[in-house]
Amino acid sequence: MGVEVGVRGVSRTYGSSKALDEVTLEIEAGQAVALMGPSGAGKSTLLHLVGAMDLPDGGEVHVGGERVDTLRRRGLDRHRRRVGFVFQRFHLLPALSVLDNVLAPVLPRRVDFDRRARARELLEAVGLAGRERALPGELSGGQQQRVAVARALICHPPLLLADEPTGNLDSVTGQEIVDLLFTLREEYGMTMLVATHNPEVAAACDRVVRMRDGRIIGDDRVTPAENVLDRIGRLG
Ligand SMILES: Nc1ncnc2c1ncn2[C@@H]1O[C@H](COP(=O)(O)OP(=O)(O)O)[C@@H](O)[C@H]1O
Ligand SMILES: [Mg+2]
Repeated sequence: MGVEVGVRGVSRTYGSSKALDEVTLEIEAGQAVALMGPSGAGKSTLLHLVGAMDLPDGGEVHVGGERVDTLRRRGLDRHRRRVGFVFQRFHLLPALSVLDNVLAPVLPRRVDFDRRARARELLEAVGLAGRERALPGELSGGQQQRVAVARALICHPPLLLADEPTGNLDSVTGQEIVDLLFTLREEYGMTMLVATHNPEVAAACDRVVRMRDGRIIGDDRVTPAENVLDRIGRLG
């Protein structure tokens, strides 16, 4: 099941430029939210703050009812394990096999599940069964992004953050990745926050949040009313 996310009055300044200017955003558990807006709007900064990969100058970030912008060491490690991150540029390790790339986040850790079985299951789920021993350089862009998606899910994260996951792919391959992300989200019940310029991604989400100059300038539900009621019914 997904976790709820609360971004409350959050600011992040780089030098004299305000990447985020008192942004407030509440996301329900299990909701899929598209983050749209021109380059420089603050989308990546917001994702990094929710993943606690960066810290705000002001405000609070909550995930699953826990404040995460004040976490340290073990708390931070635990938080990062419940967040899956997919990037525009796949960020795979070129010298590692596909299987080891998926395992990389959990190799230095003790985990309470069979990591190899989980990695193989995920590679099958993303359509790469049989390619475990391949190197990233032997795969197409779309296949590399599939590996990155499998890697993001290795710890069963209740929250998936994706930063322009189709931005480096042609439209057909991008659509395949979108379908994959939403299939996996349905299967694992994750909350999803996706920065994107892709209208297909936005259409697949429950909600579209528009940003500009570090602020939220629009927030619209895209799911038909009956689906929202259905979902509220299931949550309640
Ligand atoms: N590491 C950084 N150092 C300096 N400025 C940054 C850094 N990261 C982001 N910014 C600035 O913050 C603003 C928001 O950037 P970003 O969050 O990357 O926007 P988006 O993802 O919507 O394109 C931009 O003006 C950008 O130049
Ligand atoms: Mg960005």
